[in-house]
Amino acid sequence: MSEGISQPDQPQPLEAHAGDKDLFSKFDDIIALREGLLSQGREDPFNLVMEKVLSPTRAICNGRETILLGTYNYMGMTFDPDVVEAGKQALADFGTGTTGSRVLNGTYQGHKECEEALREFYEMDHAMVFSTGYQANLGIISTIAGKGDYIILDIDSHASIWDGCAMGQAEVVPFKHNDIEAMEKRLKRIPEGAGKLVVLEGVYSMLGDIAPLKEMVAIAKKYGAMVLVDEAHSMGFIGENGRGVVEDAGVIDDVDFIIGTFSKSVGTVGGFCVSNHPKFEIMRLVCRPYVFTASLPPSVVATAATSIRKLMHGSNKRAHLWENSKNLHAGLRDLGFKLGTEEPQSAIIAVIMPDLEKGAHMWEALIRNGLYVNLARPPATPAGMTLLRCSLCAEHSEEEVGQILEIFEKSGKETGII
Ligand SMILES: Cc1ncc(COP(=O)(O)O)c(C=O)c1O
Repeated sequence: MSEGISQPDQPQPLEAHAGDKDLFSKFDDIIALREGLLSQGREDPFNLVMEKVLSPTRAICNGRETILLGTYNYMGMTFDPDVVEAGKQALADFGTGTTGSRVLNGTYQGHKECEEALREFYEMDHAMVFSTGYQANLGIISTIAGKGDYIILDIDSHASIWDGCAMGQAEVVPFKHNDIEAMEKRLKRIPEGAGKLVVLEGVYSMLGDIAPLKEMVAIAKKYGAMVLVDEAHSMGFIGENGRGVVEDAGVIDDVDFIIGTFSKSVGTVGGFCVSNHPKFEIMRLVCRPYVFTASLPPSVVATAATSIRKLMHGSNKRAHLWENSKNLHAGLRDLGFKLGTEEPQSAIIAVIMPDLEKGAHMWEALIRNGLYVNLARPPATPAGMTLLRCSLCAEHSEEEVGQILEIFEKSGKETGII
């Protein structure tokens, strides 16, 4: 560079002052906890990479073939040939994405077909597809329950439910997990004439326990509340037709909204709400997490619609998944592990660990021995518990469940948990 040519002034960073607050300081505790675990030579349980996915139940992780027991792929639809083919065809016919909101250029034929499949699956009048299940809860809850309304909800509700409550600014009235009396007490205290929404989940995903929906929905109705049930972890599996705990408990016609996701039994990504409410369609214009975001890609809605239609005829798979759940629950209990439920209630079996350190140790032993499960810790878990959450798949064979139990036994002995 020739001398004498002056350089433009470089922008100088503004000076920091002694009293300035680093907005990241609120994360110091969790940073220290993570660094503490990793400094003991542990694999990071929250940073696992699947290098290759071989099937709904097998993947290569850290160069090892690993049995997957921590996915939400309950019905094993991710490699179903018809589902995969539908996605490929839509990709070829409609391109990679819609580049727009559902209310502008983002509604394709595939979105309508997906909503039609949901209406048929649930035998309900209306279905609205969102880009994720998180957004379905965020959107529906915040839009129907606003300032001056009351939301009565189980304290162990999913983050997307809590975030929907916060966004809508309704009064939030939590009650003790699955406690019918506590729920009624809260409902009794709400001023007469106020708008009321009871929010429940079919299956609670941390312990894998189900809600007493028969009793709870009856009480909600007695107090004139609308009812929303999130069936994220039961769709496709629980109930004669896979419609969820609402179907199994015989209350599907009494609930006002069912929320669900495509990211679990359906095997792709997306969320939805189905309802029989006569004014439901107005949601498409007033629900911000539906309006102000891009719609799902055509290949995703095509795979979802195909998967949902196949789930309607999934009774053999449902029966096999129940077998898996029963066998794993009984096997783990017999090995001496402490479980989240007395009996298997869903496809989730939670193994309770004494504390986070031992939980991380056991998680690491399991992955080293070829088994992936979810390590779950507070605030996601109830009562400060550390859990090794096992979620079964209809594609796990009986033999694989046996191998899973062998790995649990070996790892449990290595770590002194059993
Ligand atoms: C109960 C519940 N609701 C909603 C969601 C959000 O679903 P999605 O993954 O589609 O955003 C989840 C996800 O784990 C969930 O467990």
